Amino acid sequence: MNTLLQMIGIEKSFSGVKVLKGVDFTVGEGEIHGLMGENGAGKSTLIKILTGVYPGNSGVIRMNGKEIFINSRSDAMANGISVIYQELSLIPTLTVMENIFLGQELTFGKVFLKKKEMHRRAEQLIEKCRFDIKPDDLVETLCVAKRQTVEIMKSLLLNAKLIIMDEPTASLNAAESENLFKIIRNLKSQGTSIVYISHRLEEIYAMVDRLTILRDGAVVGVLPREQIDPVTVVRMMIGKCLDCAEHTVHDAASEAAVLEVTNLCSETLLDHVSFRAYGGQILGIGGLVGSGRSEVLRSIFGLDHYTEGSIRYNGEALPRSAREVSRYGIGLVPEDRRNEGLIPLLNIVENMALPNYDQLYETAFVSGKRERQLGMRGIESLSIRPGDPNIRCINLSGGNQQKVVISKWLQRKDLKVLLVDEPTAGIDVGAKAEIYEIMRRLANQGCIVIVVTSDVEELIKIADQILIMVDGKVFQQMRNENLTQDDILLAASRIKRKEPDHAN
Ligand SMILES: Nc1ncnc2c1ncn2[C@@H]1O[C@H](COP(=O)(O)OP(=O)(O)OP(=O)(O)O)[C@@H](O)[C@H]1O
Ligand SMILES: [Mg+2]
Repeated sequence: MNTLLQMIGIEKSFSGVKVLKGVDFTVGEGEIHGLMGENGAGKSTLIKILTGVYPGNSGVIRMNGKEIFINSRSDAMANGISVIYQELSLIPTLTVMENIFLGQELTFGKVFLKKKEMHRRAEQLIEKCRFDIKPDDLVETLCVAKRQTVEIMKSLLLNAKLIIMDEPTASLNAAESENLFKIIRNLKSQGTSIVYISHRLEEIYAMVDRLTILRDGAVVGVLPREQIDPVTVVRMMIGKCLDCAEHTVHDAASEAAVLEVTNLCSETLLDHVSFRAYGGQILGIGGLVGSGRSEVLRSIFGLDHYTEGSIRYNGEALPRSAREVSRYGIGLVPEDRRNEGLIPLLNIVENMALPNYDQLYETAFVSGKRERQLGMRGIESLSIRPGDPNIRCINLSGGNQQKVVISKWLQRKDLKVLLVDEPTAGIDVGAKAEIYEIMRRLANQGCIVIVVTSDVEELIKIADQILIMVDGKVFQQMRNENLTQDDILLAASRIKRKEPDHAN
């Protein structure tokens, strides 16, 4: 395999802290190269240096053996390097064709657009790559997965030799992810190289030719395909082995606290949703995206309005505003953490303090000392890195931002119910295990924990009771004993295999 990209001795510091310590990274022609590492290991930073978002402090970058200098995104593009961002950069009100030719329109004499020609080229590209879109589709009508394909088309039109994907499947469902994998393999067969960043081990095993593993800003290994196995990868990433204890179902004690949701209806989706969740247990809610799972959590938390039904904690009706619900001791970790869970420009301490101000008063004023102590406790309890309480959340890595949102609720001493929507999207394996442990510890302390997750493996691993939602209704509730991933997937598609089990 010929070498396409070489990054040699790349270093980068932010305010004097080294986050890349002489990284060497090589990608071959037509290779799918995986990049893994714990949250904060430096993956996104390395990519941002390669694509001109940040300047590197030192190091050399070569394409096809020739040194190149990248100071902007257009330098990267001119060198055939392109990146599919998590926050996609398309213009929703334009069509697919208009978006992919944006800034590289074909024209007669630089004035008139060659619309027919662009249309034909777009169609050819779609056909060649077997994408399921049309040149005239408006981007705002497309789902995230299809928008991603538009971004890929844009890169291909620029003749990108290297396409970088930073956690591309984070917001895709299983079928959409499968489709993306097909597209990636197809790109490879046409000679394009791919850098693939993901926390999902199974995707890495299924797809990559080689895997580079970063730990604390340094490369700890480059594995060829045949040496990639789960135990080795996890050990290299986090420097130790994870124990995979068997799941044991926890049943609720008779005196356990109970959250009772009865006949919940909403204008848009929820249709007589009823269930009970008990202290001491983790209730997992599965089902397809759009089945109403997040809406249930948001209704309990007082964010979404419900038209009928009731929500009671130990018989007492819950208030219906988020502010009062959180003071009551109920926390929500929302699905869209970056927009709803955090104020990115505030620092870690300030974010942690947000739902806890009522606990921070000293006579009439908020005590700065207590606020800081609370922040430090939060940082330690989930080993948030870097552990500097003054760092703004926008400068934390994706996974560490998520930890801040979870951790702020853990600081409420009166926490009665924790609602968590997709707890580990974007979280590395080590931190995942920590988060599972923390949820279990909370449950053991008598807290009610309700988790919505699209990750079926996760659902089976952590939940004591599993509730499957379909089209705004509770389809089935099961005790998580001897359940397989198939049972869950079948239920989500309306097929019952196990008898319902409503006794907790
Ligand atoms: N603009 C910035 N200012 C200060 N520190 C930063 C900045 N960008 C990144 N960092 C720090 O650099 C380190 C590496 O972050 P990076 O985003 O590269 O991690 P990552 O490997 O992509 O993690 P994740 O899996 O969580 O996305 C982190 O400690 C992060 O806080
Ligand atoms: Mg990242």
